[in-house]
Amino acid sequence: MSKEIVVSGIRSTGHLHLGNYFGAIQNYVLMQENYDCYFFVADYHSLTTHPDPKDLKANVFRVVAENIASGLNPDKVALYAQSDVPEIPELYLMLNMLAYVGELEKVPTFKEKVRTQPENVNAGLLTYPVLMAADILIHRAVKVPVGKDQEQHLEMARNFAVRFNNRYGNFFPEPQVFRFNNDTVKIMSLDGSGKMSKSENENNTIYLSDSDDTIRKKIMKAKTDAGPIAPNTEMPDYIQNLFLLMHLASRKEIVDIYRSQYNNCNIRYGDMKKQLAEDMAAFVRPIREHATELQKDETTLRMILKEGAEKARASASVTIEGARKLIGINYY
Ligand code: ADP
Ligand code: TRP
Repeated sequence: MSKEIVVSGIRSTGHLHLGNYFGAIQNYVLMQENYDCYFFVADYHSLTTHPDPKDLKANVFRVVAENIASGLNPDKVALYAQSDVPEIPELYLMLNMLAYVGELEKVPTFKEKVRTQPENVNAGLLTYPVLMAADILIHRAVKVPVGKDQEQHLEMARNFAVRFNNRYGNFFPEPQVFRFNNDTVKIMSLDGSGKMSKSENENNTIYLSDSDDTIRKKIMKAKTDAGPIAPNTEMPDYIQNLFLLMHLASRKEIVDIYRSQYNNCNIRYGDMKKQLAEDMAAFVRPIREHATELQKDETTLRMILKEGAEKARASASVTIEGARKLIGINYY
């Protein structure tokens, strides 16, 4: 039986952090065994904010290195740069004819950008969900491992697929968000304000490239309070976030100890954070060390990207050929 097709991408807009790791990459690593996986660096998507051309290559190579260091095996998946697959922008152009300005203007992530960067509301930003749909539909994927923040974009990808199918004939499956064990992991920023993200305040974000000491310092400064005063009080979200991180990085017995201390109102957050800092540093250390090594070996990274692009293009060219035919672009 042929394996189900999976696509996901990470923008090369900065250093990867625990949110990317636990929200996305960990799922990729689990999926690579049983699915036909296409994972890519969304470098075209990063252009919406006009990054310095000098930084582009290092940013892309870092994302690739950090994915491999996290356990992704380029022999088992297609790992590639979006810009190495010209069939993606071609499908993006086709889908743009089926996407309506009105619906794109209503997308919450677009409205948020209009609010936060009114000086740069470019058309690429408006059509971001169309490019994302092209990334997914180009391989006719059925499963897309992404965090909760991407659900609306996925819904739009399904809409574009259905619109294409209705107009030109059944061709694209409707891609669905996928998470292992239905687990939605959302890591919050360490100060408790919103999600941990590449563009957030770097003191509140733990990067896979952070040193042991940096991780310790950041965790020791994480937001806490005076502690619960009544037994079994519901946790505020920033405390829940510390417990989530501990659940992800520490042994179960340790989490249980602090959980019961919390419920008995005798938790000392300083101690908990010290423990969490050590366990998180130990968790990130091998990933950081491996990623650093890989980044020194540009030849290997280049070869991985090249092979990834070949695998991706083999699949993408079949889709584009089919789409062209259905649209009527087959003149010769
Ligand atoms: P960022 O928002 O940090 O720029 P991306 O938009 O490139 O990261 O997201 C890459 C993947 O990581 C997506 O699947 C996204 O859902 C996931 N992700 C990003 N931040 C978090 C977070 N704080 N918690 C869980 N998943 C996240
Ligand atoms: N928009 C996604 C994000 O910000 C990144 C992305 C681009 C993506 N294209 C994709 C994710 C295709 C999954 C599939 O996180």
